[in-house]
Amino acid sequence: MAVARSSRSAAATPRTGAEIRAAFLSFYEERGHKVMASASLIPEDPTVLLTIAGMLPFKPVFLGQQKRPAPRATSSQKCIRTNDIENVGRTARHHTFFEMLGNFSFGDYFKQQAIEWAWELSTDLFGIDPKHLVVSVFREDDEAEQIWRDVVGVNPKRIIRMDEADNFWASGPTGPCGPCSEIYYDFKPELGDEGIDLEDDERFIEFYNLVFMQYNRDAEGTLTPLANRNIDTGLGLERMAQILQKVPNNYETDLIFPLIQTAADLAGVDYHQLDDAGQTSLKVIGDHSRAVTQLICDGVSASNLGRGYILRRLLRRVVRHGRLLGIHQPFLVTMGQASIALLQDAHPSVIERQEVILAELEREESRFLETLERGEKLLAEVLESKPKQISGAQAFELYDTYGFPLELTQEIAEEQGLDVDLAGFEQAMEQQRQRAKAAAVSIDLTLQDAIDQVAADLNATAFEGYDLLEQSSSTVQALLVNGEAATSASDGDVVQ
Ligand code: SER
Repeated sequence: MAVARSSRSAAATPRTGAEIRAAFLSFYEERGHKVMASASLIPEDPTVLLTIAGMLPFKPVFLGQQKRPAPRATSSQKCIRTNDIENVGRTARHHTFFEMLGNFSFGDYFKQQAIEWAWELSTDLFGIDPKHLVVSVFREDDEAEQIWRDVVGVNPKRIIRMDEADNFWASGPTGPCGPCSEIYYDFKPELGDEGIDLEDDERFIEFYNLVFMQYNRDAEGTLTPLANRNIDTGLGLERMAQILQKVPNNYETDLIFPLIQTAADLAGVDYHQLDDAGQTSLKVIGDHSRAVTQLICDGVSASNLGRGYILRRLLRRVVRHGRLLGIHQPFLVTMGQASIALLQDAHPSVIERQEVILAELEREESRFLETLERGEKLLAEVLESKPKQISGAQAFELYDTYGFPLELTQEIAEEQGLDVDLAGFEQAMEQQRQRAKAAAVSIDLTLQDAIDQVAADLNATAFEGYDLLEQSSSTVQALLVNGEAATSASDGDVVQ
């Protein structure tokens, strides 16, 4: 029996991002789900750096390590994924920050109910004509296929079997996982039902993933059935906004476009008149501005490690793309303010934390602008010599001395049709690690007396490193050779 479509009026179909979010949460609340607030982007889970999916806060529940908050829950979870960062702005649908709408069952309903509600939500609540829908199921999941075909009434030609890579979902190499079934939107149903290729990005976009979470995978890769069979789903808010707002990509939805408009105004350009590269830069700025605002809001500050490095990299990409568009003055604070204005209704914490957010943006941008200018000069010189590629040593110098993330050098090189010697970069990095290690072990504490004696005869010197970011010159005032005060040194001497 097919699930009937009701005659919901067009006016009631959600359209804005806020309407889609609210409609999803109410739909599941009406069906007995507890509405849960979004968790922080900084997960408690040590296996991932950032919250990458709506299910992450519930991982201990799925594993039976924590009491379930309710048998059923629904949320709109803030997420960040950086594995696709190179695709941001280049495809219609990749993001760093995005919101995942989800409905979850903790040992309560399972496959059939999840499928039926997902279909009802898509076709009835969101008003999508079934001729625009295609579903995928895991290669071995006969049951899911049968439910889609016989219970929901989907045309069998529009049910596609897929392998592990696409239809077996896990939050990481270990942990809860299971086969999944995805719902795709077909932008070109007129092409028919034969030979459907869901990898065709121009034609299809996956918007809803239903995970039938029933295993735990251990470090050896062994799957053990979980005590309970669970449901974990994720519907991409930005993707649904693209579909319902009938815009060509996620960036042109009301969830991001205002930020593109802000950046376009700053650059004095018209988004719709720009070429692909210009539009890509604006899309990167729009996407990353939301991401950095949310990251700082949740307590991340820029650094060279872990989450801090992700934030730094995103911030620097915004600056870099701003410069490509001709924005040379600092503008991250303006982007931060625009992001806060855009996000505040759904995420009030950005207002509470606005001072911290704006201060971090300002500090990190000015730091970067100084090094960027020097680095860009160096890179321009390198490029002038028309190399076949950027050497590992050059990329490393840009990274180490000028604070250029490797990816930025790669991006700039790519714009010139060049690549970067990654192996050489790694080698230079390793050599530096070795040097740092050697330096750490070669500090000889027995020299301290000799150093103190020499220092006693010298005038005080000022340490300028806290105030000066420029290179500064100074004179060597004293020298120890092999632990003795000296006035010169020869090749091979160990000096302090
Ligand atoms: N956890 C699944 C995903 O991220 C469904 O939410 O796609």
